[in-house]
Amino acid sequence: MRKITIAIDGFSSTGKSTIAKQLANKFQYVYVDSGAMYRAVTLYAMQKGFISKNFFNSDKLISDLIKINLTFKFNPVLGFAEMYLNNTNIEKEIRTLEVSKFVSKVAEISEVRRKLVEQQQQMGINKGVVMDGRDIGTVVFQNAELKLFINASAEKRAKRRFDELIQRGDKVTFDEILKNVQYRDHVDSTREDSPLIIAEDAIEIDNSDMTLEEQFKKIYKITLDKINELS
Ligand code: DC
Repeated sequence: MRKITIAIDGFSSTGKSTIAKQLANKFQYVYVDSGAMYRAVTLYAMQKGFISKNFFNSDKLISDLIKINLTFKFNPVLGFAEMYLNNTNIEKEIRTLEVSKFVSKVAEISEVRRKLVEQQQQMGINKGVVMDGRDIGTVVFQNAELKLFINASAEKRAKRRFDELIQRGDKVTFDEILKNVQYRDHVDSTREDSPLIIAEDAIEIDNSDMTLEEQFKKIYKITLDKINELS
């Protein structure tokens, strides 16, 4: 079966990574969570004290980019690749609300984007990859054979993220999660460099009222049809 590139974009907490993991699993493709890479750079900036509530020294982060080494290592127990920053597993640390609050600011910086996009393109060079993010169909893989754009209402997305964080034991309120989702929607879609927009050739899917099974069924069919059409 021919291997293709699948680009999945959309607003935060739309369940892109769930779909991407399911597809990667079904087709034996490599899954890459590009948001984890922006989160990892953000965590680095936080650890170094380059970013905090009312302060961001982007110049220091830019000159430190050379020292940031990002890798994914497959965890067979979890069934997906975890994010490593300079050889340390940071999968849990990058999922906090704290990182979510700063990540859109870091993702606005062109130098950061250039470095990460280059690495992402390398990871997809042999096709057979599913990558999710904000600019995958518009910048990273403009020639991807299949582009999906996932959407859902802000309230539904905040509820999903809230449940996830509560389940891990984080102390958060629904209100602050909703505010963060809305704030990131705004920054991600209005930034100058690679804003979140729907690629012309993307298939848009609103999953506000879909179960995970319904969604997978629909997307699996779209993917299979595309592969068959190209084979
Ligand atoms: O998918 P996520 O919520 O983990 O992504 C975290 C942030 O990273 C998101 O708010 C915007 C940024 N991002 C980006 O600018 N480009 C990508 N390809 C992926 C994520």
